[in-house]
Amino acid sequence: MRAVDIILKKRRGEALTKEEIYFFIEGYVKGSIPDYQAAALLMAICCNGMDSWETVDLTLAMVDSGDKVDLSQISGMKVDKHSTGGVGDTTTLIVAPLVAACGVPVAKMSGRGLGHTGGTLDKLESIPGFQTNLSIEEFIHAVESIGIAVISQSKDLVPADKLLYALRDVTGTVDSIPLIASSIMSKKIASGSDAIVLDVKTGSGAFMRSVRDSFLLADAMVKIGIRAGKNVIAVVTDMDQPLGMAIGNALEVKEAIEVLKNKQQGPLKEVSLYLAANMLLTAKACTSLKNGLAMAEQALESGRGLEKLGDMIQLQGGNKAVLDDLSLLPSSDQVIPVAADADGYISSMDTERIGLSSLLTGAGRSRKEDSIDPAAGLVMKKRVGDGVRKGDLLAELHINKPEAVREAADMLRSAMKISKDKPEPRPLVLGVVNKHGIQRFDSKE
Ligand code: URA
Ligand code: CA
Repeated sequence: MRAVDIILKKRRGEALTKEEIYFFIEGYVKGSIPDYQAAALLMAICCNGMDSWETVDLTLAMVDSGDKVDLSQISGMKVDKHSTGGVGDTTTLIVAPLVAACGVPVAKMSGRGLGHTGGTLDKLESIPGFQTNLSIEEFIHAVESIGIAVISQSKDLVPADKLLYALRDVTGTVDSIPLIASSIMSKKIASGSDAIVLDVKTGSGAFMRSVRDSFLLADAMVKIGIRAGKNVIAVVTDMDQPLGMAIGNALEVKEAIEVLKNKQQGPLKEVSLYLAANMLLTAKACTSLKNGLAMAEQALESGRGLEKLGDMIQLQGGNKAVLDDLSLLPSSDQVIPVAADADGYISSMDTERIGLSSLLTGAGRSRKEDSIDPAAGLVMKKRVGDGVRKGDLLAELHINKPEAVREAADMLRSAMKISKDKPEPRPLVLGVVNKHGIQRFDSKE
Protein backbone atom coordinates (compact mmCIF):
# COMPACT_ATOMS: atom_id res chain seq x y z
CA MET A 1 0.00 0.00 0.00
CA ARG A 2 1.21 3.53 -0.75
CA ALA A 3 0.10 6.68 1.06
CA VAL A 4 -0.11 8.59 -2.21
CA ASP A 5 -2.69 6.17 -3.64
CA ILE A 6 -4.84 6.64 -0.56
CA ILE A 7 -4.63 10.43 -0.96
CA LEU A 8 -5.52 10.15 -4.66
CA LYS A 9 -8.48 7.89 -3.89
CA LYS A 10 -9.90 10.37 -1.38
CA ARG A 11 -9.16 13.24 -3.77
CA ARG A 12 -11.37 11.49 -6.36
CA GLY A 13 -14.09 11.35 -3.70
CA GLU A 14 -14.06 7.58 -3.23
CA ALA A 15 -14.57 5.83 0.10
CA LEU A 16 -11.44 4.47 1.80
CA THR A 17 -11.34 0.93 3.17
CA LYS A 18 -10.66 0.09 6.79
CA GLU A 19 -7.22 -1.32 5.78
CA GLU A 20 -6.30 1.90 3.98
CA ILE A 21 -7.36 4.06 6.93
CA TYR A 22 -5.43 1.93 9.45
CA PHE A 23 -2.36 1.88 7.17
CA PHE A 24 -2.40 5.67 6.98
CA ILE A 25 -2.98 6.40 10.68
CA GLU A 26 -0.45 3.78 11.84
CA GLY A 27 2.10 5.06 9.35
CA TYR A 28 1.57 8.66 10.35
CA VAL A 29 1.92 7.97 14.08
CA LYS A 30 5.05 5.81 13.48
CA GLY A 31 6.59 8.52 11.34
CA SER A 32 6.76 6.55 8.09
CA ILE A 33 4.12 8.84 6.55
CA PRO A 34 5.24 12.50 6.68
CA ASP A 35 3.21 15.57 7.67
CA TYR A 36 2.82 16.73 4.07
CA GLN A 37 1.06 13.55 3.03
CA ALA A 38 -1.13 13.61 6.13
CA ALA A 39 -1.97 17.25 5.40
CA ALA A 40 -2.94 16.36 1.83
CA LEU A 41 -5.23 13.58 3.04
CA LEU A 42 -6.83 15.87 5.63
CA MET A 43 -7.56 18.44 2.94
CA ALA A 44 -9.06 15.77 0.68
CA ILE A 45 -11.26 14.62 3.57
CA CYS A 46 -12.31 18.22 4.22
CA CYS A 47 -13.28 18.70 0.58
CA ASN A 48 -14.85 15.31 -0.16
CA GLY A 49 -16.08 14.13 3.24
CA MET A 50 -16.26 10.61 4.61
CA ASP A 51 -19.23 8.27 4.88
CA SER A 52 -20.26 6.97 8.28
CA TRP A 53 -18.31 3.68 7.86
CA GLU A 54 -15.10 5.53 7.01
CA THR A 55 -15.63 7.91 9.92
CA VAL A 56 -16.02 4.98 12.32
CA ASP A 57 -12.89 3.26 10.93
CA LEU A 58 -10.91 6.50 11.21
CA THR A 59 -12.02 6.90 14.83
CA LEU A 60 -11.15 3.31 15.76
CA ALA A 61 -7.77 3.57 14.02
CA MET A 62 -7.10 6.69 16.11
CA VAL A 63 -8.21 4.91 19.34
CA ASP A 64 -5.85 2.02 18.51
CA SER A 65 -2.92 4.41 18.06
CA GLY A 66 -2.43 4.63 21.84
CA ASP A 67 -3.41 3.41 25.31
CA LYS A 68 -6.96 2.73 26.39
CA VAL A 69 -8.18 3.29 29.92
CA ASP A 70 -9.70 0.20 31.48
CA LEU A 71 -12.36 1.21 34.00
CA SER A 72 -13.80 -2.31 34.37
CA GLN A 73 -12.69 -2.67 37.98
CA ILE A 74 -15.10 0.13 38.95
CA SER A 75 -18.52 -1.44 39.36
CA GLY A 76 -21.57 -0.07 37.59
CA MET A 77 -21.95 1.77 34.31
CA LYS A 78 -19.47 4.61 34.10
CA VAL A 79 -20.69 7.74 32.38
CA ASP A 80 -18.84 10.59 30.69
CA LYS A 81 -19.98 13.85 29.15
CA HIS A 82 -18.36 16.07 26.61
CA SER A 83 -19.12 19.54 25.35
CA THR A 84 -17.95 20.55 21.89
CA GLY A 85 -16.87 23.84 23.47
CA GLY A 86 -18.54 27.04 24.46
CA VAL A 87 -18.43 30.29 26.40
CA GLY A 88 -19.64 30.41 30.01
CA ASP A 89 -20.22 26.68 29.61
CA THR A 90 -19.68 25.59 33.20
CA THR A 91 -21.92 22.54 33.05
CA THR A 92 -19.31 19.85 33.90
CA LEU A 93 -18.70 21.35 37.34
CA ILE A 94 -22.42 21.05 38.08
CA VAL A 95 -23.43 17.96 36.15
CA ALA A 96 -20.62 15.60 37.17
CA PRO A 97 -21.29 15.99 40.94
CA LEU A 98 -25.07 15.76 40.44
CA VAL A 99 -24.79 12.50 38.50
CA ALA A 100 -22.26 11.05 40.96
CA ALA A 101 -24.59 12.04 43.80
CA CYS A 102 -27.26 9.89 42.10
CA GLY A 103 -24.95 6.88 42.38
CA VAL A 104 -23.60 6.75 38.81
CA PRO A 105 -19.77 6.82 38.64
CA VAL A 106 -18.37 9.72 36.63
CA ALA A 107 -14.83 9.15 35.33
CA LYS A 108 -14.06 12.16 33.23
CA MET A 109 -11.03 13.34 31.34
CA SER A 110 -11.26 16.99 30.43
CA GLY A 111 -9.40 19.51 28.33
CA ARG A 112 -8.05 23.02 28.61
CA GLY A 113 -9.50 26.11 27.05
CA LEU A 114 -8.15 27.16 23.70
CA GLY A 115 -9.12 30.21 21.69
CA HIS A 116 -12.43 31.70 22.76
CA THR A 117 -13.70 28.60 24.60
CA GLY A 118 -13.09 27.67 28.22
CA GLY A 119 -11.82 24.35 29.54
CA THR A 120 -12.83 22.46 32.65
CA LEU A 121 -9.24 21.75 33.78
CA ASP A 122 -8.39 25.45 33.92
CA LYS A 123 -11.55 26.13 35.91
CA LEU A 124 -10.85 23.37 38.44
CA GLU A 125 -7.23 24.45 38.83
CA SER A 126 -8.41 27.90 39.96
CA ILE A 127 -9.46 26.15 43.20
CA PRO A 128 -6.43 26.46 45.53
CA GLY A 129 -4.52 23.16 45.58
CA PHE A 130 -6.69 21.28 43.07
CA GLN A 131 -4.72 18.67 41.07
CA THR A 132 -5.83 17.42 37.67
CA ASN A 133 -2.76 15.35 36.75
CA LEU A 134 -3.70 12.14 38.55
CA SER A 135 -2.24 8.83 37.36
CA ILE A 136 -4.69 6.29 35.93
CA GLU A 137 -4.42 4.27 39.16
CA GLU A 138 -5.24 7.34 41.29
CA PHE A 139 -8.08 8.19 38.90
CA ILE A 140 -9.64 4.74 39.23
CA HIS A 141 -9.14 4.80 42.99
CA ALA A 142 -10.90 8.18 43.24
CA VAL A 143 -13.89 7.01 41.22
CA GLU A 144 -14.09 3.79 43.25
CA SER A 145 -14.06 5.62 46.57
CA ILE A 146 -16.25 8.69 45.94
CA GLY A 147 -17.82 8.04 42.53
CA ILE A 148 -16.23 10.97 40.74
CA ALA A 149 -12.96 12.31 39.36
CA VAL A 150 -12.14 14.88 36.69
CA ILE A 151 -8.57 14.74 35.41
CA SER A 152 -6.44 15.74 32.45
CA GLN A 153 -6.16 13.36 29.54
CA SER A 154 -3.08 11.18 29.90
CA LYS A 155 -0.28 11.72 27.37
CA ASP A 156 -0.51 8.29 25.81
CA LEU A 157 -4.18 8.44 24.93
CA VAL A 158 -4.91 8.85 21.20
CA PRO A 159 -1.50 10.11 20.01
CA ALA A 160 -2.95 10.20 16.47
CA ASP A 161 -5.34 12.96 17.55
CA LYS A 162 -2.56 15.07 19.07
CA LEU A 163 -0.60 14.91 15.81
CA LEU A 164 -3.60 15.36 13.52
CA TYR A 165 -5.11 18.16 15.56
CA ALA A 166 -1.89 20.19 15.47
CA LEU A 167 -1.67 19.63 11.72
CA ARG A 168 -5.32 20.56 11.15
CA ASP A 169 -4.85 23.74 13.12
CA VAL A 170 -2.24 25.03 10.65
CA THR A 171 -3.61 23.60 7.39
CA GLY A 172 -7.15 24.99 7.41
CA THR A 173 -8.69 21.58 8.05
CA VAL A 174 -10.29 21.95 11.47
CA ASP A 175 -13.95 22.39 10.60
CA SER A 176 -14.79 19.11 8.89
CA ILE A 177 -17.53 16.98 10.43
CA PRO A 178 -15.76 13.58 10.06
CA LEU A 179 -12.52 15.06 11.40
CA ILE A 180 -14.15 16.74 14.41
CA ALA A 181 -16.34 13.70 15.12
CA SER A 182 -13.41 11.26 15.00
CA SER A 183 -11.19 13.58 17.06
CA ILE A 184 -13.73 13.92 19.88
CA MET A 185 -15.02 10.35 19.83
CA SER A 186 -11.57 8.72 19.70
CA LYS A 187 -10.75 10.41 23.01
CA LYS A 188 -14.10 9.52 24.57
CA ILE A 189 -13.83 5.87 23.51
CA ALA A 190 -10.22 5.57 24.70
CA SER A 191 -11.09 7.01 28.11
CA GLY A 192 -13.15 3.95 28.91
CA SER A 193 -16.65 4.99 30.04
CA ASP A 194 -19.63 2.84 29.05
CA ALA A 195 -22.05 5.70 28.44
CA ILE A 196 -21.40 9.10 26.90
CA VAL A 197 -23.53 12.25 26.72
CA LEU A 198 -22.38 14.74 24.09
CA ASP A 199 -23.37 18.37 24.43
CA VAL A 200 -23.13 19.72 20.89
CA LYS A 201 -23.14 23.50 21.03
CA THR A 202 -24.69 25.50 18.22
CA GLY A 203 -24.55 29.21 17.44
CA SER A 204 -22.19 32.17 17.41
CA GLY A 205 -19.94 30.84 20.19
CA ALA A 206 -19.70 27.26 18.90
CA PHE A 207 -17.57 25.33 16.43
CA MET A 208 -20.75 24.63 14.50
CA ARG A 209 -22.59 27.87 13.89
CA SER A 210 -25.51 26.45 11.91
CA VAL A 211 -28.15 24.29 13.53
CA ARG A 212 -28.07 21.90 10.56
CA ASP A 213 -24.32 21.25 10.85
CA SER A 214 -24.63 20.82 14.60
CA PHE A 215 -27.17 18.03 14.12
CA LEU A 216 -24.99 16.42 11.44
CA LEU A 217 -22.00 16.48 13.82
CA ALA A 218 -24.16 15.08 16.65
CA ASP A 219 -25.41 12.31 14.38
CA ALA A 220 -21.89 11.40 13.19
CA MET A 221 -20.65 11.17 16.80
CA VAL A 222 -23.60 9.09 17.99
CA LYS A 223 -23.11 6.63 15.10
CA ILE A 224 -19.42 6.25 15.98
CA GLY A 225 -20.20 5.67 19.66
CA ILE A 226 -22.84 3.06 18.94
CA ARG A 227 -20.51 1.19 16.54
CA ALA A 228 -17.89 1.20 19.30
CA GLY A 229 -20.38 -0.42 21.67
CA LYS A 230 -21.13 2.64 23.81
CA ASN A 231 -24.47 4.03 24.94
CA VAL A 232 -24.52 7.53 23.49
CA ILE A 233 -26.91 10.46 23.47
CA ALA A 234 -26.11 13.83 21.91
CA VAL A 235 -27.98 16.93 22.98
CA VAL A 236 -27.82 20.01 20.76
CA THR A 237 -27.86 23.15 22.93
CA ASP A 238 -27.76 26.87 22.32
CA MET A 239 -24.45 28.75 22.20
CA ASP A 240 -25.78 31.89 20.54
CA GLN A 241 -25.05 33.64 23.84
CA PRO A 242 -22.94 32.59 26.85
CA LEU A 243 -24.71 29.84 28.81
CA GLY A 244 -23.90 31.09 32.29
CA MET A 245 -23.34 34.70 33.35
CA ALA A 246 -19.69 34.14 34.37
CA ILE A 247 -16.89 33.66 31.85
CA GLY A 248 -13.45 32.96 33.29
CA ASN A 249 -12.05 30.30 35.55
CA ALA A 250 -12.59 31.20 39.22
CA LEU A 251 -15.68 33.21 38.20
CA GLU A 252 -17.21 30.09 36.64
CA VAL A 253 -16.34 27.96 39.67
CA LYS A 254 -18.20 30.50 41.84
CA GLU A 255 -21.21 30.38 39.55
CA ALA A 256 -21.25 26.56 39.54
CA ILE A 257 -21.18 26.59 43.35
CA GLU A 258 -24.09 29.07 43.42
CA VAL A 259 -26.09 26.78 41.11
CA LEU A 260 -25.32 23.73 43.27
CA LYS A 261 -26.47 25.74 46.32
CA ASN A 262 -29.69 26.39 44.40
CA LYS A 263 -29.07 30.12 44.68
CA GLN A 264 -29.01 30.70 40.94
CA GLN A 265 -31.76 29.86 38.49
CA GLY A 266 -31.67 30.25 34.71
CA PRO A 267 -30.18 28.65 31.60
CA LEU A 268 -26.99 27.23 33.18
CA LYS A 269 -29.02 25.38 35.79
CA GLU A 270 -31.61 24.28 33.24
CA VAL A 271 -29.12 22.88 30.72
CA SER A 272 -27.13 21.24 33.53
CA LEU A 273 -30.20 19.41 34.83
CA TYR A 274 -31.07 18.34 31.29
CA LEU A 275 -27.57 16.97 30.68
CA ALA A 276 -27.51 15.24 34.07
CA ALA A 277 -30.86 13.58 33.31
CA ASN A 278 -29.51 12.33 29.97
CA MET A 279 -26.41 10.96 31.70
CA LEU A 280 -28.60 9.08 34.17
CA LEU A 281 -30.66 7.78 31.27
CA THR A 282 -27.68 6.57 29.17
CA ALA A 283 -26.23 4.91 32.26
CA LYS A 284 -29.61 3.20 32.82
CA ALA A 285 -30.03 4.72 36.28
CA CYS A 286 -33.55 5.83 35.38
CA THR A 287 -36.25 4.68 33.01
CA SER A 288 -37.28 7.98 31.47
CA LEU A 289 -35.90 11.45 30.95
CA LYS A 290 -38.60 12.80 33.25
CA ASN A 291 -37.51 10.41 35.95
CA GLY A 292 -33.86 11.43 35.39
CA LEU A 293 -34.75 15.11 35.66
CA ALA A 294 -36.50 14.48 38.98
CA MET A 295 -33.44 12.60 40.29
CA ALA A 296 -31.07 15.38 39.21
CA GLU A 297 -33.29 18.07 40.72
CA GLN A 298 -33.47 16.17 43.97
CA ALA A 299 -29.69 15.85 44.10
CA LEU A 300 -29.39 19.58 43.58
CA GLU A 301 -32.09 20.70 46.01
CA SER A 302 -30.95 18.37 48.79
CA GLY A 303 -27.39 19.70 48.59
CA ARG A 304 -26.00 16.24 47.74
CA GLY A 305 -24.52 17.57 44.49
CA LEU A 306 -22.65 20.32 46.34
CA GLU A 307 -21.40 17.80 48.87
CA LYS A 308 -20.12 15.57 46.05
CA LEU A 309 -18.24 18.51 44.53
CA GLY A 310 -16.67 19.04 47.96
CA ASP A 311 -15.62 15.37 48.13
CA MET A 312 -13.99 15.66 44.71
CA ILE A 313 -12.16 18.90 45.58
CA GLN A 314 -10.83 17.33 48.76
CA LEU A 315 -9.73 14.07 47.15
CA GLN A 316 -7.97 15.92 44.34
CA GLY A 317 -5.98 18.05 46.79
CA GLY A 318 -8.06 21.22 46.70
CA ASN A 319 -9.32 23.41 49.52
CA LYS A 320 -12.92 22.35 50.05
CA ALA A 321 -13.58 25.39 52.27
CA VAL A 322 -14.14 27.37 49.04
CA LEU A 323 -17.68 25.98 49.02
CA ASP A 324 -18.53 27.96 52.15
CA ASP A 325 -16.21 30.88 51.54
CA LEU A 326 -16.04 31.98 47.91
CA SER A 327 -13.48 34.64 48.85
CA LEU A 328 -10.90 31.83 49.07
CA LEU A 329 -10.99 31.68 45.26
CA PRO A 330 -8.68 34.04 43.37
CA SER A 331 -10.20 37.45 42.66
CA SER A 332 -9.06 40.33 40.47
CA ASP A 333 -7.72 43.73 41.54
CA GLN A 334 -10.18 45.59 39.43
CA VAL A 335 -13.83 45.20 38.48
CA ILE A 336 -14.65 47.49 35.57
CA PRO A 337 -18.22 48.19 34.48
CA VAL A 338 -19.06 48.13 30.77
CA ALA A 339 -22.17 50.17 29.93
CA ALA A 340 -24.61 50.17 27.02
CA ASP A 341 -24.15 52.99 24.50
CA ALA A 342 -27.76 53.01 23.23
CA ASP A 343 -31.37 52.30 24.24
CA GLY A 344 -33.19 49.22 22.99
CA TYR A 345 -33.09 45.45 23.35
CA ILE A 346 -30.09 43.14 23.31
CA SER A 347 -30.96 41.62 19.96
CA SER A 348 -28.00 39.28 19.47
CA MET A 349 -24.56 38.46 20.75
CA ASP A 350 -21.42 37.47 18.91
CA THR A 351 -20.52 34.88 21.51
CA GLU A 352 -17.11 34.12 20.03
CA ARG A 353 -16.18 37.80 20.47
CA ILE A 354 -17.42 37.70 24.06
CA GLY A 355 -15.10 34.74 24.61
CA LEU A 356 -12.28 36.71 23.01
CA SER A 357 -12.99 39.66 25.29
CA SER A 358 -12.64 37.32 28.26
CA LEU A 359 -9.37 36.06 26.75
CA LEU A 360 -8.11 39.66 26.61
CA THR A 361 -8.74 40.05 30.35
CA GLY A 362 -6.27 37.16 30.82
CA ALA A 363 -8.77 34.33 31.37
CA GLY A 364 -7.78 32.35 28.26
CA ARG A 365 -4.91 31.49 25.98
CA SER A 366 -4.12 32.43 22.40
CA ARG A 367 -1.47 29.73 22.19
CA LYS A 368 -1.29 26.40 24.03
CA GLU A 369 1.78 27.46 26.04
CA ASP A 370 0.31 30.77 27.29
CA SER A 371 -0.42 31.06 31.00
CA ILE A 372 -3.80 32.20 32.27
CA ASP A 373 -5.02 34.42 35.10
CA PRO A 374 -7.47 32.32 37.15
CA ALA A 375 -9.18 35.42 38.56
CA ALA A 376 -9.80 37.16 35.24
CA GLY A 377 -12.90 37.19 33.05
CA LEU A 378 -16.33 38.71 32.62
CA VAL A 379 -19.61 38.68 34.46
CA MET A 380 -22.48 39.30 32.07
CA LYS A 381 -25.41 41.36 33.35
CA LYS A 382 -27.76 41.01 30.37
CA ARG A 383 -29.13 38.26 28.17
CA VAL A 384 -30.51 38.34 24.65
CA GLY A 385 -34.00 39.87 24.75
CA ASP A 386 -33.32 42.09 27.79
CA GLY A 387 -34.24 45.77 27.46
CA VAL A 388 -31.44 48.30 28.09
CA ARG A 389 -31.04 52.03 28.41
CA LYS A 390 -27.91 53.93 27.51
CA GLY A 391 -25.57 53.74 30.51
CA ASP A 392 -27.02 50.45 31.86
CA LEU A 393 -24.51 47.86 32.96
CA LEU A 394 -23.90 45.20 30.26
CA ALA A 395 -21.13 43.33 32.01
CA GLU A 396 -18.22 43.65 34.43
CA LEU A 397 -14.62 42.97 33.51
CA HIS A 398 -12.59 41.22 36.23
CA ILE A 399 -9.07 42.14 35.34
CA ASN A 400 -5.54 42.48 36.68
CA LYS A 401 -4.13 44.05 33.50
CA PRO A 402 -4.99 47.76 33.34
CA GLU A 403 -3.45 47.98 29.85
CA ALA A 404 -6.00 45.49 28.48
CA VAL A 405 -9.16 47.11 29.87
CA ARG A 406 -9.97 49.28 26.89
CA GLU A 407 -9.57 46.62 24.24
CA ALA A 408 -11.52 44.03 26.27
CA ALA A 409 -14.34 46.51 26.93
CA ASP A 410 -14.54 47.57 23.26
CA MET A 411 -14.56 43.95 22.14
CA LEU A 412 -17.37 43.15 24.58
CA ARG A 413 -19.49 46.16 23.60
CA SER A 414 -19.08 45.39 19.90
CA ALA A 415 -20.23 41.81 20.54
CA MET A 416 -23.57 42.85 22.06
CA LYS A 417 -25.95 44.19 19.45
CA ILE A 418 -28.62 46.59 20.67
CA SER A 419 -31.66 47.29 18.47
CA LYS A 420 -35.20 48.63 18.70
CA ASP A 421 -36.95 45.31 18.19
CA LYS A 422 -37.18 42.59 20.75
CA PRO A 423 -35.78 39.37 19.25
CA GLU A 424 -37.61 36.04 19.10
CA PRO A 425 -36.50 33.83 22.00
CA ARG A 426 -34.39 30.81 20.99
CA PRO A 427 -34.81 27.47 22.81
CA LEU A 428 -32.00 26.27 25.09
CA VAL A 429 -32.21 22.68 23.92
CA LEU A 430 -32.72 22.34 20.17
CA GLY A 431 -32.97 18.57 20.01
CA VAL A 432 -31.43 15.19 20.76
CA VAL A 433 -29.79 12.48 18.71
CA ASN A 434 -29.69 8.87 19.89
CA LYS A 435 -29.74 5.37 18.43
CA HIS A 436 -33.25 6.05 17.08
CA GLY A 437 -32.04 9.02 15.05
CA ILE A 438 -32.39 12.79 15.10
CA GLN A 439 -35.19 14.47 17.01
CA ARG A 440 -35.37 18.24 16.47
CA PHE A 441 -37.52 20.20 18.90
CA ASP A 442 -37.61 23.23 16.60
CA SER A 443 -38.64 23.00 12.98
CA LYS A 444 -36.92 26.01 11.48
CA GLU A 445 -33.21 26.60 10.88
N1 URA B 1 -12.62 19.29 19.89
C1 URA B 1 -11.81 18.24 19.61
O1 URA B 1 -11.36 17.54 20.52
N2 URA B 1 -11.49 17.98 18.34
C2 URA B 1 -11.96 18.71 17.31
O2 URA B 1 -11.64 18.41 16.18
C3 URA B 1 -12.80 19.80 17.60
C4 URA B 1 -13.13 20.06 18.90
CA1 CA C 1 -15.84 23.09 27.86
